[in-house]
Amino acid sequence: MLNKKIDRKFCVAPMMGYTTPYARQLYRILSKKTFLFTEMIATKTMIHSKNAQMIIRNNNQNPIALQVGGSDLKELNKCSKIAYELNYDEINLNVGCPSKAVQKGSFGACLMRDKILVRQSLESMQINKNIEVSLKCRIGLGKELNYDFFEEFIDEIIKSGIKIVYVHARNAILNGISPKANRNVPRLKYDFVKKVQSKYPSVTFVLNGGINSIDKALKLKNEYDGVMLGRLIQNNPFCLKNVDELFYNCKEKYQINENTVHDYFNFIKPNVGNDSIFRLMSPLLQIFFGIPNSKEFKSKIHNIMQKQKVDLLENIFLDFIKKQKILLN
Ligand SMILES: Cc1cc2nc3c(=O)[nH]c(=O)nc-3n(C[C@H](O)[C@H](O)[C@H](O)COP(=O)(O)O)c2cc1C
Repeated sequence: MLNKKIDRKFCVAPMMGYTTPYARQLYRILSKKTFLFTEMIATKTMIHSKNAQMIIRNNNQNPIALQVGGSDLKELNKCSKIAYELNYDEINLNVGCPSKAVQKGSFGACLMRDKILVRQSLESMQINKNIEVSLKCRIGLGKELNYDFFEEFIDEIIKSGIKIVYVHARNAILNGISPKANRNVPRLKYDFVKKVQSKYPSVTFVLNGGINSIDKALKLKNEYDGVMLGRLIQNNPFCLKNVDELFYNCKEKYQINENTVHDYFNFIKPNVGNDSIFRLMSPLLQIFFGIPNSKEFKSKIHNIMQKQKVDLLENIFLDFIKKQKILLN
Protein backbone atom coordinates (compact mmCIF):
# COMPACT_ATOMS: atom_id res chain seq x y z
CA MET A 1 0.00 0.00 0.00
CA LEU A 2 1.27 3.43 -0.93
CA ASN A 3 1.46 6.25 1.56
CA LYS A 4 0.26 8.91 -0.85
CA LYS A 5 -3.23 9.06 -2.28
CA ILE A 6 -3.12 10.76 -5.64
CA ASP A 7 -6.06 11.20 -7.97
CA ARG A 8 -5.29 10.59 -11.63
CA LYS A 9 -8.68 11.73 -12.93
CA PHE A 10 -7.02 14.12 -15.39
CA CYS A 11 -3.53 13.49 -16.73
CA VAL A 12 -1.38 15.25 -19.33
CA ALA A 13 0.23 12.62 -21.56
CA PRO A 14 4.01 12.30 -21.84
CA MET A 15 5.12 14.00 -25.07
CA MET A 16 8.72 14.08 -26.21
CA GLY A 17 9.82 17.58 -27.08
CA TYR A 18 6.70 19.04 -25.44
CA THR A 19 6.23 18.04 -21.81
CA THR A 20 9.51 19.75 -20.94
CA PRO A 21 10.16 21.14 -17.43
CA TYR A 22 8.99 24.52 -18.77
CA ALA A 23 5.73 23.28 -20.24
CA ARG A 24 5.07 21.34 -17.03
CA GLN A 25 5.60 24.48 -15.02
CA LEU A 26 3.00 26.28 -17.11
CA TYR A 27 0.61 23.34 -16.64
CA ARG A 28 1.20 23.49 -12.89
CA ILE A 29 0.57 27.23 -12.77
CA LEU A 30 -2.79 26.66 -14.46
CA SER A 31 -3.82 23.55 -12.54
CA LYS A 32 -2.66 22.38 -9.13
CA LYS A 33 -4.28 18.95 -9.43
CA THR A 34 -3.61 17.69 -12.96
CA PHE A 35 -1.34 14.66 -12.94
CA LEU A 36 1.75 15.44 -15.03
CA PHE A 37 4.29 13.40 -16.96
CA THR A 38 7.82 14.10 -18.11
CA GLU A 39 8.89 13.37 -21.66
CA MET A 40 10.04 9.79 -22.13
CA ILE A 41 13.69 9.28 -21.35
CA ALA A 42 15.65 6.17 -22.30
CA THR A 43 17.11 4.38 -19.26
CA LYS A 44 20.65 4.59 -20.65
CA THR A 45 20.33 8.35 -21.21
CA MET A 46 18.93 8.81 -17.74
CA ILE A 47 21.80 6.93 -16.15
CA HIS A 48 24.72 8.10 -18.27
CA SER A 49 23.96 11.43 -19.94
CA LYS A 50 25.14 14.69 -18.41
CA ASN A 51 22.16 16.42 -20.01
CA ALA A 52 19.61 14.10 -18.41
CA GLN A 53 18.94 16.67 -15.69
CA MET A 54 17.41 18.96 -18.34
CA ILE A 55 14.61 16.45 -18.75
CA ILE A 56 14.35 14.72 -15.42
CA ARG A 57 14.56 17.44 -12.78
CA ASN A 58 11.23 17.64 -11.01
CA ASN A 59 11.07 21.24 -9.68
CA ASN A 60 8.35 20.25 -7.18
CA GLN A 61 5.84 19.81 -9.95
CA ASN A 62 4.05 17.01 -8.08
CA PRO A 63 1.85 15.13 -8.60
CA ILE A 64 4.04 13.90 -11.42
CA ALA A 65 5.38 10.75 -13.10
CA LEU A 66 8.72 10.28 -14.77
CA GLN A 67 8.45 8.15 -17.90
CA VAL A 68 11.23 5.81 -18.93
CA GLY A 69 11.84 3.63 -21.95
CA GLY A 70 13.91 0.50 -21.62
CA SER A 71 13.88 -3.21 -20.89
CA ASP A 72 17.14 -3.82 -19.05
CA LEU A 73 16.07 -4.84 -15.57
CA LYS A 74 19.10 -3.45 -13.76
CA GLU A 75 18.88 -0.12 -15.57
CA LEU A 76 15.17 0.14 -14.85
CA ASN A 77 15.82 -0.51 -11.18
CA LYS A 78 18.46 2.22 -11.13
CA CYS A 79 16.11 4.67 -12.84
CA SER A 80 13.45 4.02 -10.19
CA LYS A 81 15.96 4.90 -7.50
CA ILE A 82 16.87 8.13 -9.30
CA ALA A 83 13.19 9.02 -9.75
CA TYR A 84 12.56 8.38 -6.07
CA GLU A 85 15.48 10.58 -5.06
CA LEU A 86 14.11 13.34 -7.29
CA ASN A 87 10.77 13.09 -5.46
CA TYR A 88 8.68 11.76 -8.31
CA ASP A 89 5.37 10.24 -7.26
CA GLU A 90 5.54 7.62 -9.98
CA ILE A 91 7.80 6.01 -12.52
CA ASN A 92 6.11 4.90 -15.72
CA LEU A 93 7.29 2.38 -18.29
CA ASN A 94 6.57 3.25 -21.92
CA VAL A 95 5.30 0.25 -23.86
CA GLY A 96 3.34 2.31 -26.36
CA CYS A 97 5.84 4.13 -28.56
CA PRO A 98 6.07 2.61 -32.06
CA SER A 99 9.08 4.54 -33.44
CA LYS A 100 11.86 2.69 -35.25
CA ALA A 101 14.57 4.19 -33.02
CA VAL A 102 12.80 2.93 -29.94
CA GLN A 103 12.37 -0.57 -31.45
CA LYS A 104 16.10 -0.69 -32.11
CA GLY A 105 16.74 -0.01 -28.44
CA SER A 106 14.29 -2.82 -27.55
CA PHE A 107 11.75 -0.67 -25.84
CA GLY A 108 8.41 0.95 -26.53
CA ALA A 109 5.45 -0.78 -28.15
CA CYS A 110 7.44 -3.74 -29.51
CA LEU A 111 7.68 -4.97 -25.90
CA MET A 112 3.98 -5.80 -25.99
CA ARG A 113 5.13 -8.95 -27.80
CA ASP A 114 7.02 -9.99 -24.68
CA LYS A 115 4.61 -9.65 -21.78
CA ILE A 116 6.85 -11.67 -19.45
CA LEU A 117 9.69 -9.20 -19.95
CA VAL A 118 7.28 -6.31 -19.34
CA ARG A 119 6.13 -7.96 -16.11
CA GLN A 120 9.74 -8.49 -15.02
CA SER A 121 10.58 -4.89 -15.94
CA LEU A 122 7.76 -3.61 -13.77
CA GLU A 123 8.87 -5.86 -10.93
CA SER A 124 12.41 -4.58 -11.12
CA MET A 125 11.15 -0.99 -10.95
CA GLN A 126 9.41 -1.50 -7.62
CA ILE A 127 11.91 -0.22 -5.10
CA ASN A 128 9.80 1.05 -2.21
CA LYS A 129 6.25 1.94 -1.34
CA ASN A 130 6.76 5.68 -1.76
CA ILE A 131 7.12 5.60 -5.50
CA GLU A 132 4.35 4.09 -7.58
CA VAL A 133 5.24 2.03 -10.67
CA SER A 134 2.94 2.21 -13.69
CA LEU A 135 2.70 1.24 -17.34
CA LYS A 136 1.60 3.05 -20.50
CA CYS A 137 0.65 0.69 -23.30
CA ARG A 138 -1.46 0.24 -26.43
CA ILE A 139 -4.31 -2.28 -26.85
CA GLY A 140 -2.39 -4.43 -29.30
CA LEU A 141 -0.04 -4.63 -32.26
CA GLY A 142 -0.66 -4.58 -36.00
CA LYS A 143 -3.84 -3.98 -37.95
CA GLU A 144 -6.03 -6.71 -36.45
CA LEU A 145 -7.95 -5.93 -33.28
CA ASN A 146 -7.78 -8.73 -30.75
CA TYR A 147 -9.28 -8.22 -27.30
CA ASP A 148 -7.92 -11.53 -26.02
CA PHE A 149 -4.36 -10.45 -26.80
CA PHE A 150 -4.89 -7.26 -24.79
CA GLU A 151 -6.49 -9.03 -21.84
CA GLU A 152 -3.77 -11.69 -21.72
CA PHE A 153 -1.15 -8.94 -21.78
CA ILE A 154 -2.86 -7.17 -18.87
CA ASP A 155 -3.31 -10.48 -16.99
CA GLU A 156 0.45 -10.98 -17.09
CA ILE A 157 1.62 -7.48 -16.23
CA ILE A 158 -0.85 -7.17 -13.36
CA LYS A 159 0.98 -10.05 -11.69
CA SER A 160 3.82 -7.58 -11.09
CA GLY A 161 1.57 -5.91 -8.53
CA ILE A 162 1.26 -2.55 -10.30
CA LYS A 163 -1.98 -0.68 -9.74
CA ILE A 164 -2.00 1.93 -12.52
CA VAL A 165 -2.17 1.40 -16.28
CA TYR A 166 -2.53 4.14 -18.90
CA VAL A 167 -3.90 2.80 -22.15
CA HIS A 168 -3.64 4.52 -25.52
CA ALA A 169 -6.70 2.71 -26.82
CA ARG A 170 -5.51 1.82 -30.32
CA ASN A 171 -3.10 -0.74 -31.72
CA ALA A 172 0.46 0.25 -32.56
CA ILE A 173 1.62 -0.51 -36.08
CA LEU A 174 5.34 -1.16 -35.97
CA ASN A 175 6.09 -1.19 -39.71
CA GLY A 176 5.31 1.09 -42.58
CA ILE A 177 3.81 4.11 -40.80
CA SER A 178 5.29 6.93 -38.76
CA PRO A 179 4.81 7.51 -35.01
CA LYS A 180 2.69 10.54 -35.95
CA ALA A 181 0.35 8.48 -38.14
CA ASN A 182 0.26 5.88 -35.35
CA ARG A 183 -1.58 8.43 -33.20
CA ASN A 184 -4.48 8.64 -35.68
CA VAL A 185 -4.79 5.10 -37.03
CA PRO A 186 -5.87 2.37 -36.46
CA ARG A 187 -9.18 3.23 -34.88
CA LEU A 188 -9.72 3.74 -31.18
CA LYS A 189 -11.40 1.00 -29.14
CA TYR A 190 -12.30 2.49 -25.77
CA ASP A 191 -14.47 -0.53 -24.96
CA PHE A 192 -11.35 -2.73 -24.65
CA VAL A 193 -10.27 -0.54 -21.74
CA LYS A 194 -13.74 -0.59 -20.23
CA LYS A 195 -13.86 -4.38 -20.39
CA VAL A 196 -10.49 -4.93 -18.79
CA GLN A 197 -11.28 -2.30 -16.16
CA SER A 198 -14.32 -4.31 -15.09
CA LYS A 199 -12.13 -7.40 -14.75
CA TYR A 200 -9.68 -5.58 -12.46
CA PRO A 201 -11.69 -3.11 -10.36
CA SER A 202 -8.81 -2.54 -7.93
CA VAL A 203 -6.49 -1.34 -10.71
CA THR A 204 -6.71 2.24 -12.04
CA PHE A 205 -7.07 2.28 -15.82
CA VAL A 206 -6.58 5.70 -17.37
CA LEU A 207 -8.00 6.13 -20.87
CA ASN A 208 -5.89 7.84 -23.53
CA GLY A 209 -6.27 8.57 -27.24
CA GLY A 210 -8.37 11.00 -29.25
CA ILE A 211 -9.77 12.93 -26.29
CA ASN A 212 -9.71 16.23 -28.12
CA SER A 213 -11.90 18.48 -25.99
CA ILE A 214 -12.52 19.15 -22.31
CA ASP A 215 -16.20 18.33 -22.90
CA LYS A 216 -15.29 14.89 -24.22
CA ALA A 217 -12.95 14.35 -21.27
CA LEU A 218 -15.74 15.33 -18.87
CA LYS A 219 -18.13 12.79 -20.39
CA LEU A 220 -15.50 10.04 -20.22
CA LYS A 221 -14.45 10.82 -16.66
CA ASN A 222 -17.60 9.19 -15.32
CA GLU A 223 -16.95 5.98 -17.21
CA TYR A 224 -13.22 5.55 -16.62
CA ASP A 225 -10.91 5.84 -13.63
CA GLY A 226 -9.16 8.73 -15.33
CA VAL A 227 -8.45 10.38 -18.66
CA MET A 228 -5.12 11.30 -20.25
CA LEU A 229 -4.86 14.02 -22.88
CA GLY A 230 -1.93 14.72 -25.18
CA ARG A 231 -2.40 16.80 -28.28
CA LEU A 232 -5.20 18.99 -26.93
CA ILE A 233 -2.84 20.19 -24.20
CA GLN A 234 0.08 20.45 -26.62
CA ASN A 235 -1.97 22.83 -28.77
CA ASN A 236 -3.87 24.64 -26.06
CA PRO A 237 -2.34 24.22 -22.58
CA PHE A 238 -4.47 27.07 -21.30
CA CYS A 239 -7.56 24.88 -21.21
CA LEU A 240 -5.96 23.39 -18.06
CA LYS A 241 -7.22 26.42 -16.12
CA ASN A 242 -10.64 24.73 -15.86
CA VAL A 243 -9.45 21.29 -14.80
CA ASP A 244 -9.29 21.74 -11.00
CA GLU A 245 -12.87 22.95 -10.95
CA LEU A 246 -14.32 20.48 -13.45
CA PHE A 247 -12.44 17.31 -12.51
CA TYR A 248 -11.43 17.80 -8.88
CA ASN A 249 -14.38 19.80 -7.50
CA CYS A 250 -12.21 22.74 -6.49
CA LYS A 251 -14.24 25.88 -5.82
CA GLU A 252 -11.88 28.48 -7.23
CA LYS A 253 -11.43 28.77 -10.95
CA TYR A 254 -7.96 29.83 -12.14
CA GLN A 255 -7.95 33.26 -13.77
CA ILE A 256 -5.34 34.00 -16.42
CA ASN A 257 -3.81 37.36 -15.58
CA GLU A 258 -0.48 39.15 -15.21
CA ASN A 259 0.56 36.74 -12.45
CA THR A 260 0.42 33.87 -14.93
CA VAL A 261 3.11 35.61 -16.98
CA HIS A 262 5.18 36.64 -13.94
CA ASP A 263 5.09 33.13 -12.46
CA TYR A 264 6.14 31.60 -15.74
CA PHE A 265 8.98 34.03 -16.41
CA ASN A 266 10.28 33.68 -12.85
CA PHE A 267 10.65 30.00 -13.57
CA ILE A 268 12.34 30.26 -16.95
CA LYS A 269 14.68 33.22 -16.32
CA PRO A 270 17.38 31.25 -14.46
CA ASN A 271 17.52 28.90 -17.46
CA VAL A 272 18.17 31.52 -20.13
CA GLY A 273 21.49 30.62 -21.74
CA ASN A 274 21.38 27.02 -20.48
CA ASP A 275 18.52 25.90 -22.65
CA SER A 276 17.28 27.06 -26.06
CA ILE A 277 15.04 30.11 -26.05
CA PHE A 278 12.55 28.13 -28.11
CA ARG A 279 12.25 25.40 -25.46
CA LEU A 280 11.86 28.08 -22.81
CA MET A 281 9.24 30.09 -24.62
CA SER A 282 7.26 27.64 -26.76
CA PRO A 283 4.76 26.55 -24.06
CA LEU A 284 3.69 30.14 -23.48
CA LEU A 285 3.37 30.87 -27.21
CA GLN A 286 0.27 28.66 -27.21
CA ILE A 287 -1.52 31.47 -25.39
CA PHE A 288 -2.41 32.79 -28.84
CA PHE A 289 -4.44 29.65 -29.60
CA GLY A 290 -7.82 30.73 -30.94
CA ILE A 291 -7.32 34.41 -30.10
CA PRO A 292 -8.13 36.58 -33.14
CA ASN A 293 -5.73 39.30 -34.33
CA SER A 294 -2.75 37.99 -32.39
CA LYS A 295 -0.50 38.00 -35.47
CA GLU A 296 1.11 41.31 -34.51
CA PHE A 297 2.11 39.95 -31.07
CA LYS A 298 3.40 36.71 -32.54
CA SER A 299 5.74 38.35 -35.04
CA LYS A 300 7.05 40.79 -32.40
CA ILE A 301 7.76 37.88 -30.10
CA HIS A 302 9.56 35.80 -32.71
CA ASN A 303 11.88 38.73 -33.47
CA ILE A 304 12.71 39.33 -29.83
CA MET A 305 13.17 35.62 -29.13
CA GLN A 306 16.06 35.60 -31.59
CA LYS A 307 17.72 38.33 -29.54
CA GLN A 308 17.05 36.49 -26.24
CA LYS A 309 15.69 39.65 -24.58
CA VAL A 310 13.65 37.99 -21.87
CA ASP A 311 12.49 41.11 -19.99
CA LEU A 312 11.18 42.57 -23.21
CA LEU A 313 9.36 39.32 -23.96
CA GLU A 314 7.77 39.38 -20.53
CA ASN A 315 6.49 42.91 -21.14
CA ILE A 316 4.95 41.95 -24.47
CA PHE A 317 3.11 39.05 -22.87
CA LEU A 318 1.91 41.31 -20.06
CA ASP A 319 0.61 43.75 -22.63
CA PHE A 320 -1.15 40.93 -24.47
CA ILE A 321 -2.77 39.66 -21.28
CA LYS A 322 -4.01 43.14 -20.37
CA LYS A 323 -5.70 43.45 -23.76
CA GLN A 324 -7.07 39.92 -24.00
CA LYS A 325 -7.92 39.03 -20.40
CA ILE A 326 -11.61 38.67 -21.13
CA LEU A 327 -11.12 36.41 -24.13
CA LEU A 328 -8.53 34.32 -22.29
CA ASN A 329 -10.81 33.63 -19.35
C1 LIG B 1 4.61 15.19 -29.90
C2 LIG B 1 4.25 13.93 -29.19
C3 LIG B 1 5.21 13.26 -28.46
C4 LIG B 1 4.88 12.08 -27.76
N1 LIG B 1 5.82 11.50 -26.97
C5 LIG B 1 5.44 10.45 -26.18
C6 LIG B 1 6.31 9.93 -25.17
O1 LIG B 1 7.41 10.45 -24.94
N2 LIG B 1 5.88 8.87 -24.44
C7 LIG B 1 4.65 8.30 -24.64
O2 LIG B 1 4.28 7.34 -23.93
N3 LIG B 1 3.81 8.77 -25.56
C8 LIG B 1 4.15 9.85 -26.31
N4 LIG B 1 3.26 10.39 -27.17
C9 LIG B 1 1.91 9.81 -27.25
C10 LIG B 1 0.98 10.51 -26.25
O3 LIG B 1 1.42 10.29 -24.93
C11 LIG B 1 -0.47 9.99 -26.41
O4 LIG B 1 -0.49 8.62 -26.10
C12 LIG B 1 -1.00 10.19 -27.82
O5 LIG B 1 -0.71 11.48 -28.31
C13 LIG B 1 -2.53 9.97 -27.85
O6 LIG B 1 -3.18 10.90 -27.02
P1 LIG B 1 -3.96 12.19 -27.65
O7 LIG B 1 -4.90 11.65 -28.70
O8 LIG B 1 -4.66 12.83 -26.49
O9 LIG B 1 -2.91 13.09 -28.26
C14 LIG B 1 3.57 11.56 -27.85
C15 LIG B 1 2.60 12.26 -28.58
C16 LIG B 1 2.92 13.44 -29.23
C17 LIG B 1 1.84 14.19 -29.97
